[in-house]
Amino acid sequence: MNDLSANKILVTGGAGYIGTHTCVELIEAGHEVIVFDNLCNSKAEALLGVERITGVRPELVVADLRDLPALIETFEKHEPDAVIHFAGLKAVGESVNHPLRYFQNNVAGSINLFEAMRKANVKKLVFSSSCTVYGSPKTLPIDENAPVGNTSNPYGHTKYMIEQILRELHQCNPDWNISILRYFNPVGAHASGEIGEDPHGVPENLMPYVCQVAVGKHDRVRVWGNDYDTPDGTGVRDYLHVSDLATGHLSALNKLDSNPGLMFHNLGTGNGYSVLDVIEAFRSASGQDINYEIMPRRPGDIAAVWADTSLAEKELGWKAERGLEEMCRDAWSWQKNHLNGF
Ligand SMILES: NC(=O)c1ccc[n+]([C@@H]2O[C@H](COP(=O)([O-])OP(=O)(O)OC[C@H]3O[C@@H](n4cnc5c(N)ncnc54)[C@H](O)[C@@H]3O)[C@@H](O)[C@H]2O)c1
Repeated sequence: MNDLSANKILVTGGAGYIGTHTCVELIEAGHEVIVFDNLCNSKAEALLGVERITGVRPELVVADLRDLPALIETFEKHEPDAVIHFAGLKAVGESVNHPLRYFQNNVAGSINLFEAMRKANVKKLVFSSSCTVYGSPKTLPIDENAPVGNTSNPYGHTKYMIEQILRELHQCNPDWNISILRYFNPVGAHASGEIGEDPHGVPENLMPYVCQVAVGKHDRVRVWGNDYDTPDGTGVRDYLHVSDLATGHLSALNKLDSNPGLMFHNLGTGNGYSVLDVIEAFRSASGQDINYEIMPRRPGDIAAVWADTSLAEKELGWKAERGLEEMCRDAWSWQKNHLNGF
């Protein structure tokens, strides 16, 4: 799968959760990695974890996407062959309270990145989008032709807007090669336990919250609604192991080399698990009691989302390999050894 020739890859947001896991896979496949990150939601120490796993510490440029001269200088200095663009703010709730911050950081920041790429003549890009661009799906599983744009919050809208910008960019400049990956729900940690998710403050997402309950940081998981039209009434999502997600980026880079153009792919497992399924799987993987309380539904939440992954399998030759048990086991082995993150 990972057979592209060695390249130099600029990884924006490479010190973050998915970024560090992708750095590991890139380095293990023989690539050189330059991380561009302002560390607003991550720590430089995360790259020491990458080094402990791979023996290589990626060079870190601490700078902001909103700083165009810093981006231009980075491209001039490092001359990357391709970019994987993770950098962005991702907290849905925060985006509702601070929409302009999200448009400025994610959308304006991405435009700066594309401008710096244009100037440097770098035209190969993998972009982190999200299943949130599908909004509330009419049919399940969701395939890549489902309508997009009916997003319920500013964060989701930034992903949709960046997708639209990239569509136009490609239409006007067909020599750009762009892979848009729509992630479902990445969870877990590298099997070594050296890197994992390190949320600032109280996590918004289920798995890191469950992890924190397991180590006693919170007394219970609040389950937002048990009256959805799902098998046990709680929300259903397509959780995928972050290391599987990371290898999806290598497959996308390969595909851009062998079959240039603009492409969109879902990255998920194709399986839906409920909140209670996750709590039970985590309880069994960790041996810890996980208390929970049923709360009213949370506005904006949808009942169930899972991916049709057949296009990624067919076109990228990529398929998630790890199941829920492994996701919980690896999340737990990271969490119990890193009570306070990095
Ligand atoms: N984690 C998920 O559930 C999920 C799901 C779908 C899509 N995504 C997308 O994947 C990408 C990576 O997510 P993650 O979970 O690793 O998040 P993360 O917060 O751990 O990583 C993002 C990184 O980007 C950096 N960053 C943010 N704004 C920046 C800026 N202006 N300039 C430079 N660096 C900046 C942060 O410091 C952080 O290290 C994001 O774009 C996110 O929206 C994540």
